[in-house]
Amino acid sequence: MNIAIFASGRGSNIQAILGAIDTGLLPARITVLISNKSDAGALDIARVRKIQTSHLSQKMFPSEEAFVEAMLNVLAQQKADLLVLAGYLKKIPLQVIRRYRNRIVNIHPALLPLFGGPGMYGHFVHEAVIASGVKVSGATVHLVDEEYDRGPIVMQKTVEIIQEDTPELLAAKVLKIEHEIFPVALKAFAEGKIIIEGRKVWIMS
Ligand code: GRF
Repeated sequence: MNIAIFASGRGSNIQAILGAIDTGLLPARITVLISNKSDAGALDIARVRKIQTSHLSQKMFPSEEAFVEAMLNVLAQQKADLLVLAGYLKKIPLQVIRRYRNRIVNIHPALLPLFGGPGMYGHFVHEAVIASGVKVSGATVHLVDEEYDRGPIVMQKTVEIIQEDTPELLAAKVLKIEHEIFPVALKAFAEGKIIIEGRKVWIMS
């Protein structure tokens, strides 16, 4: 399975995915890393690993169509089977979602469908979670569809929230489980073990 990663930030999930590939847990390769930010840490990680990188930002193109075409070209050239969003802060264009329907996954640092949607990223998520008084949070791997953070859920894992938790402490706890579940969810895709029944996604045992 060829993975195309989309990232805007530091890239710790990419490190976790690469670790899982290295140990043989995840039978896949990352053929390209696409970032909208030229200074994303994720790009450095890819370069060190000699992974093809592509800096693609809407601003670099005269029109939305040209941008989408460039993105689709990169994905086709790199023979992407699965698009993996690992801290990608832009919306995936509609045409890309349609072309890769059920083959785009994202990881979100909370238990969707709560604490997701526009503006819910990074520390905003953990601040809202703590302020709400809920006693658990976690990470969600989900399919990407036309609605932000609303696609069918593939995998979740929880963490407990304790009185001492600050948004920063909670973020660190959640990130740790992101690194655990993302490679496991991707492995299920690589092994063809994903069953999609409308909004319900199952992993064959
Ligand atoms: C993670 O918390 C992920 O859930 C969210 O963006 C963050 C990316 O972190 N979508 P990193 O760049 O992989 O370290």
